[in-house]
Amino acid sequence: MKRLDGKAALITGAARGIGLELARAYVAEGARVAIADIDADRAQAAAQILGKSAISIDLDVTRQSSIDTAVALTAERLGGIDVLINNAAIFSAAPIAEITREDFDAVFAINVSGVLFTMQAVAKHMITRGQGGKIINMASQAGRRGEALVATYCASKAAVISLTQSAGLNLIQHGINVNAIAPGVVDGEHWDGVDAFFAKYEGKPRGQKKKEVGDAVPFGRMGRASDLIGMAVFLATNEADYIVAQTIGVDGGNWMS
Ligand SMILES: NC(=O)c1ccc[n+]([C@@H]2O[C@H](COP(=O)([O-])OP(=O)(O)OC[C@H]3O[C@@H](n4cnc5c(N)ncnc54)[C@H](O)[C@@H]3O)[C@@H](O)[C@H]2O)c1
Repeated sequence: MKRLDGKAALITGAARGIGLELARAYVAEGARVAIADIDADRAQAAAQILGKSAISIDLDVTRQSSIDTAVALTAERLGGIDVLINNAAIFSAAPIAEITREDFDAVFAINVSGVLFTMQAVAKHMITRGQGGKIINMASQAGRRGEALVATYCASKAAVISLTQSAGLNLIQHGINVNAIAPGVVDGEHWDGVDAFFAKYEGKPRGQKKKEVGDAVPFGRMGRASDLIGMAVFLATNEADYIVAQTIGVDGGNWMS
């Protein structure tokens, strides 16, 4: 018996990076998974690699009609949704004096409104279905404190932590557990982008910031997407039934340091 046998999971932003790694892990644990992403080509390719337990779903979390269609299609094709991993997000960095309204709105549309309204659509499905469920939001250590060059992204992740608290308290009456994972610094394409922002604003050669943040993690290295599997699987099982509205750090001690 695998830990997620019989479970159907919708994972947003799962065409690459952490979402894809969690989709792979969920399939390995017996779940059927919908890889939902704005990058339809990569989502399709990922689902093909994962095999018959995975489907790809077109999703732009900034558009309500796209969210509604994606949730309905996933529920239809997987026979309901037991787990949502609300993972899609973008990063942005700039000194306060250079933040633009356009960039702020773009980040909040995906990282905050996208998280809230995807959570809402899946919660409505779960309430109607009457079997409870698990919702796992992807926060960040960046949501626990500000950073000089990362105001918008940090604020968006603080909002994810807050939404997790409110939704967790509101939805537990329906047997829906809402919790969040706060990763630290996780290597991958996302962090290649972060490194490029710091190269621009701190005048560092490419790769330098990545090395510095990795060296600063108490565990001794940057995170890998696979480091998040244990918590993401655990929070989707009945072992986590009594965990409500929490944001759990999986960061090698990074934030605590
Ligand atoms: N990598 C890190 O260091 C790190 C650290 C802490 C938290 N996180 C969080 O973990 C999550 C995954 O991070 P990652 O490193 O895998 O990022 P990533 O950039 O590699 O993947 C993000 C995915 O989201 C998708 N996406 C973007 N906009 C979308 C939209 N409008 N609708 C649907 N999908 C959209 C992208 O196409 C991409 O596949 C994010 O929430 C991120 O903020 C990452």
